[in-house]
Amino acid sequence: MKIAILPGDGIGPEIISVALDVTKVICEKFGHDLQYEYGICGASAIDKVGNPYPDATHELCMRSDAVLFGAIGDPRFDNNPSAKVRPEQGLLAMRKRLGLYANIRPVTTFESLIHKSPLRAELVKGADFMCIRELTGGLYFGRPQGRSEDGNTAYDTCVYTREEVVRIITLAYEYAMKRRRKLTVVDKANVLATSRLWREVAKEIAPQYPEVETEYMFVDNAAMRIIQWPTAFDVMVTENMFGDILTDEGSVITGSMGLLPSASIGMHTSVFEPIHGSWPQAAGKNIANPLATVLSAAMMFDYAFGLKAEAELIRKAVNASIDANVRTQDIQVEGEEAYGTAEVGAWIVRYIRDAEYNTNLSNF
Ligand code: IPM
Ligand code: MG
Repeated sequence: MKIAILPGDGIGPEIISVALDVTKVICEKFGHDLQYEYGICGASAIDKVGNPYPDATHELCMRSDAVLFGAIGDPRFDNNPSAKVRPEQGLLAMRKRLGLYANIRPVTTFESLIHKSPLRAELVKGADFMCIRELTGGLYFGRPQGRSEDGNTAYDTCVYTREEVVRIITLAYEYAMKRRRKLTVVDKANVLATSRLWREVAKEIAPQYPEVETEYMFVDNAAMRIIQWPTAFDVMVTENMFGDILTDEGSVITGSMGLLPSASIGMHTSVFEPIHGSWPQAAGKNIANPLATVLSAAMMFDYAFGLKAEAELIRKAVNASIDANVRTQDIQVEGEEAYGTAEVGAWIVRYIRDAEYNTNLSNF
């Protein structure tokens, strides 16, 4: 098991360190041989070598079996629109060069955290859906992109080829088959040509999956339905930027953005990362919630290595830490003292080390 570790910026190094400790203890427990190597990316890589996704990092990812990624982003760049190189370009370059065309973001709620949701408990209870976001096309990558010579006009382009849409819609149907067999295709087909292509392709593919109920929904309506009736979704598939927006929305209804993991899969090595950003204000303070990254490591065992029992034990440990009120400040109960990032990590590692299990039955 060769894993590339890319901590990135802000809170990235702290949360990755927890996820790596959890990965190590799981490998110890189950007898897997783990090798890992660190790579640089984001603002910290710009500072070191002037490139947010250096070739050396790309080569490391290519020769690894999985990538565990923290976060990137730095206010020095956010507040400087004329910066020539930006940390986010590193993330986009990584997605493009690794061919990570699908970003899988499961939105699930934790029973004991429902009170943290901005939605009423009865609305959000039991919400469990998966957003499949197209990740290497659409508005983020379409060209031309830029400014007119006089600087007074700016443009981005949304482009999709049939092949790109077929590949992501097919993947979404496969996930729907493994879940509750409902697929919501989210688009803006009443306005956008690319969305009409998406809908056309989905209608062509749908008959191959007669067991799946397909639903078509405009993105503005979907944004509304996620807060109005989140339990009605199972698998949702959508364009790159729509997916970016809808998954932030999805994450907060669960109670904290610090809880949601993701997997980006495609042509080469898969990348596992929390959906939240680098929270630079919290960097080095030992206050960030490491659970989204730990749960991303669980997705790594599951998706990259097909090791379900390992993934299950990580999820069980995370749930146990929440139930034991071993929580960072963002999800701590009022009146209870918050734990630090590293302390939550140490608790989870200890839980895994002590867990009784039977590998043959993979039942904990
Ligand atoms: C995400 C992030 C990125 C995106 C940024 C950091 C470029 O918001 O992974 O959702 O927009 O894709
Ligand atoms: Mg985002």
